[in-house]
Amino acid sequence: MTVFFSYFIVFAAALALVSAATIKVPYTDSSISYTGSGWMHDIFELRPGIDPETGGGALDSTCTLGDNSTTTPAFGNAFRFSFRGASVSLVLETRADHGLYNISLDGNVEQHSGYTEAPHCGVVWTSTTLDGTQEHDLIVTFVAKAPESPWDNNYLQLFAIQYDDGPGLAASQSTSTSPSKTPGTSLSDHNGWFSLWLWRFWPSSSCVDDRVKRGSATPSMSSQPRAPS
Ligand SMILES: *[C@@H]1O[C@H](CO)[C@@H](O)[C@H](O)[C@H]1NC(C)=O
Ligand SMILES: *[C@@H]1O[C@H](CO)[C@@H](O)[C@H](O)[C@H]1NC(C)=O
Repeated sequence: MTVFFSYFIVFAAALALVSAATIKVPYTDSSISYTGSGWMHDIFELRPGIDPETGGGALDSTCTLGDNSTTTPAFGNAFRFSFRGASVSLVLETRADHGLYNISLDGNVEQHSGYTEAPHCGVVWTSTTLDGTQEHDLIVTFVAKAPESPWDNNYLQLFAIQYDDGPGLAASQSTSTSPSKTPGTSLSDHNGWFSLWLWRFWPSSSCVDDRVKRGSATPSMSSQPRAPS
């Protein structure tokens, strides 16, 4: 009995690690709520004659030229996202007309700048020290123009939020977001152990679970491209 039990614990721990997944939540997902008016559609692009001739581009594989996003010039505008997970990242744009924003994670506020001379998109901020068994609350508020910015209007621009749903919680999290990929894997019900066991035999899915497929409504925003000021 003891031998069997220990074996099972080791087995379960390994499975839990396997089941953690990085989930990319696009800016259009209905789980991101926006406050303030004047959120506009924009894409990531290099603007010849405005941007520096070299140095711009994607920072990592989370975005690429032409990617869609939402942007705002209004200080006080914010977006909010709640999730259960062990880490979270913001996929934003930085450029010469991007300003200061405050990131509040579970009530702890830090100020960051979106200013860079050349334009970039990608993960610009990550928090990796979260308790993966808890719900977390992320609020990002656009607060001010960057002091270095030569432009009158400054912006905050979101492509996506990424989070890691943490060891052992992937199943219940992904079931609600992407049912086709994670059948029968809720860990919170009475069949939890059986489901965990079942998980081992389910064909594994890709690491990044793009929730764009849910086809949720876009937040209220107009679609005219913004003119650099
Ligand atoms: C951006 O959105 C447009 C309109 O919905 C779509 O046609 C286009 O494929 C999107 N671009 C990317 C890179 O996803
Ligand atoms: C933004 O964060 C800074 C630094 O924590 C703080 O001093 C400031 O009051 C915050 N501004 C807003 C609008 O929340």
